[in-house]
Amino acid sequence: MLIKTHDSGFHHPVGSEITAPTAYRQRRQLLQLMATGSAGAVMAAWAGRDAWAQGAGVARPGKLAALPGAKSAVAGAITMDKLTDYKDASTYNNFYEFGTDKGDPAKNAHTLKTSPWTVEVEGLVKKPAKYTLEDLLKLSAQEERIYRLRCVEGWSMVIPWVGYSMSQLIKKVEPLGSAKYVEFVTQADPKTMPFVGSSVLDWPYVEALRLDEAMHPLTLLSFGMYGEVLPNQSGAPVRLVVPWKYGFKSGKSLVKIRFTDKQPDTAWNKAAANEYGFYSNVNPDVDHPRWSQATERRIGEDGLFAKKRKTLMFNGYEAQVGQLYAGMDLKKNF
Ligand code: MTE
Repeated sequence: MLIKTHDSGFHHPVGSEITAPTAYRQRRQLLQLMATGSAGAVMAAWAGRDAWAQGAGVARPGKLAALPGAKSAVAGAITMDKLTDYKDASTYNNFYEFGTDKGDPAKNAHTLKTSPWTVEVEGLVKKPAKYTLEDLLKLSAQEERIYRLRCVEGWSMVIPWVGYSMSQLIKKVEPLGSAKYVEFVTQADPKTMPFVGSSVLDWPYVEALRLDEAMHPLTLLSFGMYGEVLPNQSGAPVRLVVPWKYGFKSGKSLVKIRFTDKQPDTAWNKAAANEYGFYSNVNPDVDHPRWSQATERRIGEDGLFAKKRKTLMFNGYEAQVGQLYAGMDLKKNF
């Protein structure tokens, strides 16, 4: 994403240029073993790791509270792609409130205070409400959804999320006929989030969807991943996951949900409107002004011979969501 530097405007570290932690560790290990003449052992270890991840799923942390969900029956909610290793999913993050390096959130987000937690629902609704986290957790049955999430920087992950469709909450608060958009405001507490107040973004981090996008059954209000509550760096205690849009639309640590009649200004749109549009649907045919969006690097597939994957229209969810954009020029509405 975009980082403001002191002197020369903006610097964007593109994900594809950043070495993922696993790749970094593996390359370092390989170099060390090459020096001692035993590189073959590392190759075998890589093959073994892949076979293990394919068959047995990924390492479970076992440290956080369990939050299981029944497999979702929502169309498109379970991709068969291989899961990203939990370690990668929880140590390679964007959460600018805790720093701009991919490793910063895992290092720094332990200061986030996730209890007590409330989410206020306000604006153009018949029944505005203030939910405690406990109320929100009980509002609907938890489901497991295995979603691909693709970052605008060019990397992607496959994560088993736990939560329920955002539409369940929206139905409870009864939007007025005039409500057209839903704004998601996230926590911005400088006491517990060391980068809030920095000039990187205009805080709080705000994202928004059109009401019909927010009502789409794939739009997930998520409380957990890999069968446990969310680790802080992944947006605890409650976040959004919108699988057909670039990752930055999936706001973390939500505190307010506001229904409006005008398109809200979002954090990245305010920072650079020509680079980060309101829709931000994953689209291999619309380049970011400074890099192609045609391919992506799947985190975990970063061994020496890994090829990039072709990015799919709407991140592979076109059958489910394409109709939302019928007749729209997606080059203009990027
Ligand atoms: N939410 C908040 N509050 N702050 C952020 O910096 N980063 C976004 C999004 N949600 C961000 C956020 C971006 S750029 C991405 S790619 C995803 O979270 C990353 O989610 P992950 O780190 O859990 O994979």
